[in-house]
Amino acid sequence: MSTVEEVKARLDIADVVGQYVQLQKAGRNFRALCPFHSEKTPSFFVSPERQTWHCFGACGTGGDVFAFVMRKEGLEFGQTLRLLAEKAGVRLPEWREEAEESGERQRLLAANEAAAQYFHNLIVNSEAGKGAREYLERRGIDSRWTQEFLLGYSLASWDALQRYLGERGFSEDELLAAGLLVEGESGRHDRFRGRLMFPIRDAKGRVTGFGARALDATPPKYLNTPQTAVFDKGSTLYALERARDGIRREGGAVIVEGYMDAIAAHQHGFTNVVASMGTALTERQVRLIKRFAGRIVLALDADAAGSEAALRGQEVVEEALREAGETSVTPVLTWRGLVRYQESVSVDLRVAVLPPGRDPDDVIRSDEAAWRELVAGAKPVLDYKFEAVAARTDSSDPRARSQAVKELAPVVGAIVDPVVRAHYLQRLSRLALVKEEELTAMLARPQRRQARVSTPPQAVGQSDSRRDQREEFLLALLLRYPTSRDQGMEVRPELLWQMENRQVLEAWKQAGDAEALREGVPAELQTHLDGITSLRVPDFGEREAQEALESCVRRLEERQLRLEKQASAAAVASEEEAVGDKISLLQAASELLEGSETPDLQDERVAKAAGRLIEDMAAGLRLHGREPEPKGEDQAENIEVNQ
Ligand code: UTP
Ligand code: MN
Repeated sequence: MSTVEEVKARLDIADVVGQYVQLQKAGRNFRALCPFHSEKTPSFFVSPERQTWHCFGACGTGGDVFAFVMRKEGLEFGQTLRLLAEKAGVRLPEWREEAEESGERQRLLAANEAAAQYFHNLIVNSEAGKGAREYLERRGIDSRWTQEFLLGYSLASWDALQRYLGERGFSEDELLAAGLLVEGESGRHDRFRGRLMFPIRDAKGRVTGFGARALDATPPKYLNTPQTAVFDKGSTLYALERARDGIRREGGAVIVEGYMDAIAAHQHGFTNVVASMGTALTERQVRLIKRFAGRIVLALDADAAGSEAALRGQEVVEEALREAGETSVTPVLTWRGLVRYQESVSVDLRVAVLPPGRDPDDVIRSDEAAWRELVAGAKPVLDYKFEAVAARTDSSDPRARSQAVKELAPVVGAIVDPVVRAHYLQRLSRLALVKEEELTAMLARPQRRQARVSTPPQAVGQSDSRRDQREEFLLALLLRYPTSRDQGMEVRPELLWQMENRQVLEAWKQAGDAEALREGVPAELQTHLDGITSLRVPDFGEREAQEALESCVRRLEERQLRLEKQASAAAVASEEEAVGDKISLLQAASELLEGSETPDLQDERVAKAAGRLIEDMAAGLRLHGREPEPKGEDQAENIEVNQ
């Protein structure tokens, strides 16, 4: 449960609102004179069941307890959280303190920057750095490029960096948090010792961590900064800060695996090259590049390209973690993932495979033209995958063919475009010597199960009745399918009644993409955002995603519209000054509203509430010698739309 949810769970909206306005019991609800506009008869309703409030009068607005307090007190979301958390007796967790001294991240960045300068100075000027200097020379990196990449050397000492930065005011805790120190058995000591240092920068050019290469046989070959508040390997690409312009200019990026590969590329004028630092490519990394260009070439070494097992193993681990409710898992792109992802974000992904035993570093240094050719000849990820499997499939062996189908069928199944899909289906049919119809039947099974989920998505873990699934689903769709951005920009914030959802929507509109959103969302909403990110959203194609989004928005629009209609219906009754009728009318209206929020079980409830509303209205109007109709029918119509 996020902190916001916990606060909501511990507070009762009627208590909180009751501190500002005089509430009267009205059936299952409370009513009062609306505190947000002046009125003589009460049209402000609070529903303890749903923990929401609504004004059916001139305001026609509503929301949760946060929305009420924010509006009433004129506070920001974060301030409201602090106020309500105190009322609820909920202690705000760590992130609050972190966010408050937003200095913390700054301190870690400063420590990293200072460390980078320190290491660099050692490699340039010190006697101890001589070995590292010579190593770079042997690898073809001269002083100019040592400086360009701010390469450095860490002394073979347990505390040299700690003392140096300590004198400059960095505490042990800060250095530990920055990943520069490590907690050993006999206390804290420098993490990087006697290594060649590669400062890693984020897209804005700030040093967030290091890669550190051994200069002798001491394993590991590379030691990296662990995950810290400023460093996340899965959302970082080495050299991106200097490749941005090149990527824009070329309309595409090349991703290599190693630091040395990226440096060699830049040295030789291939300025659109970044390094994934040896890890499997993640969605976040692809998104980082998508900001600058839509074409990506993955330069894979022959081994990595062939290692299906490794890729699949990762997929399994990742799914298992997700099932377990782990939300911080960075989605790793598997082949199937690449294919699906390529279509959903419309990025052109290609694969270039290096000759066996070579890496980009030595190809580039020995033969620029060969590198250029290799990149130019990169194959679309689907073709590449097909050819790789075909090359190692002995088509005279039925088991081998069966294996090929097992490997390729899920990939083909992930293709959304029917024409493209038909093309690859045909290829698979030829490779496996299986009729296309039979393959289609084989594909259909898992396909249908995965792609056509129509039940509302469940958050991992317990879903709380106070969470609004449709609102969250809408947000999950926006996050998952970046192609729906334009559509999402049109969504009116007031359609979302849960204040945390409204905040996320507004932050999302401000942000360019999921990354920026994560940065832009206030710390207190991070957990809520994680909850939304972990919702199970079906694998839609672009079109389906659009439709799902439209349908969500339509439902929320209808809900809002009903609210507004109730308000105007109430206004009619109000003119009549028939207080008693108005109360029953309003009550029915608010029940109607409540019942219709969970559209799956409620058809009957909606119908009943609608019936009651119509009766009440009829009764109310009859009292005043009027015919019931047009309004009654209006209401009925409105309900039907909603089913
Ligand atoms: P490589 O072993 O290909 O490294 O690993 P490299 O950059 O080409 O280095 P040289 O040429 O042997 O000096 C590719 C990348 O994988 C990550 C590093 O980011 C490396 O650049 N890696 C590799 C690790 O993080 N840890 C390791 O132990 C090895
Ligand atoms: Mn190498």
